Amino acid sequence: MVNLLFIGDVFGSPGREFLKLHLPSLISRYEANFVVVNGENAAGGNGLTPEVAQELFSYGVDVLTSGNHIWDKKEILPVMDTEQRILRPLNYPPGIPGRGSGVFQSRDGDPVGVINVCGRVFSPQNLDCPFRALDVEISRLKTITPVILVDFHAEATSEKVAAGWYVDGRVSALLGTHTHVQTADEIVLPNGTGYITDVGMTGSYEGVIGVKKDIILKHFLTQLPVRHEAAKGKRQLSGVFCRIDSSGKCEKIERILIRE
Ligand SMILES: [Fe+2]
Ligand SMILES: [Fe+2]
Repeated sequence: MVNLLFIGDVFGSPGREFLKLHLPSLISRYEANFVVVNGENAAGGNGLTPEVAQELFSYGVDVLTSGNHIWDKKEILPVMDTEQRILRPLNYPPGIPGRGSGVFQSRDGDPVGVINVCGRVFSPQNLDCPFRALDVEISRLKTITPVILVDFHAEATSEKVAAGWYVDGRVSALLGTHTHVQTADEIVLPNGTGYITDVGMTGSYEGVIGVKKDIILKHFLTQLPVRHEAAKGKRQLSGVFCRIDSSGKCEKIERILIRE
């Protein structure tokens, strides 16, 4: 049995502090034995550094997934090949640093496969097909473990919904990230895959998806480039809990939103 806690994009120090505050009680409430956090915005809202990654691991995080923002801080590049617990999207061109999947162990010793993939709709990057990339990686990980989690990092709800149907029965959960806005459509699909279109963001909700609202409003009103800064103010933690049986089927998915 894998009791998975997945926490959506942790944004800057407000997100890290709120995660630190609530993660221990969430782990005990759900008897979680595996914790995954999307860390693409954990360092100042853009990217991840080795120090910030270690800080998140020290709070009880087992694996950090990411997305398009993982490349924003170049300090992370040298550790992406050595720190196995940090994943970047699988479907970037071959030969770049890091890995898009891994097999880890729950605190009870069960192997858990994690795949991180990016969608393509409304994405400025020209990435390989995420659906075909999932086919290959799911088949490979299935030979190691029946418990497989996918972080599908994408903008379009349609692409994520389609991806959920595509992998239903082949993975334990496909959880959407990237928009920073939690959707209320969590479900266990008919063949046993836990699904949500977007897990949401962990950070200040008194801004625009984690960024200071004045900065984003200035951008929309002037179309001039702006420098992003993490919003201050009241914070939230967004996540989901999935209970996964030993055959890899999701028995239950529960949405988590904690606001102060
Ligand atoms: Fe993000
Ligand atoms: Fe993103």
